[in-house]
Amino acid sequence: MGKSQRLIILALLASIAALAVLLVAQISASGPKGEAPVVSTGKPQVGGPFTLTDETGKTVTQDDFKGQFMLIYFGFTFCPDVCPTELQVMAAAINALGDDADQVTPILITVDPARDTPEVMAKYVPQFSPRLKGLTGTPEQIAQVAKEYRVFYEKVQDDSSTDYTMDHSSIVYLMGPDGQFLSFFPPATSPDEIAAKIKSFIG
Ligand code: NI
Repeated sequence: MGKSQRLIILALLASIAALAVLLVAQISASGPKGEAPVVSTGKPQVGGPFTLTDETGKTVTQDDFKGQFMLIYFGFTFCPDVCPTELQVMAAAINALGDDADQVTPILITVDPARDTPEVMAKYVPQFSPRLKGLTGTPEQIAQVAKEYRVFYEKVQDDSSTDYTMDHSSIVYLMGPDGQFLSFFPPATSPDEIAAKIKSFIG
């Protein structure tokens, strides 16, 4: 099995546990039709407040994106194939939204803050979309936001070189203008499917 195949399989495996949690979260978020919202203490929470640094070096929090839908992906710029593929899908989904695109901010949050400095992010994100934000932070800030989004990531030594790589979940999250979790998209979701789902929330 090639290295890239192995990485894809690892990313998929890492996503399975998160997907199970997210499925339950999505059902809770949509709620029973025609009934009053049920207050549940067992509802899984996905997402939450964050303080990170954008690709211009500016400190940003979730409040900077208030009023915008957020399409969030966790990855890293050195990722050989999984991350670039998903970021291309996100960019295509934004393009497919047409006039509604300005209501959605696509965001990459790095799981490799040691290498993904704001300068590295500034060179990387425009390759996918001029609107893609690239967020990094301290290892603690990244650990915190990854925990909130149920994202798994782990540093792995690459046998074939002195560099390391990162195993990580590969899921695109859709958050509402109020910062609440709305939906998620597993790998292989098409840009049109993502755009249609966003449009269903824009109304
Ligand atoms: Ni990746």
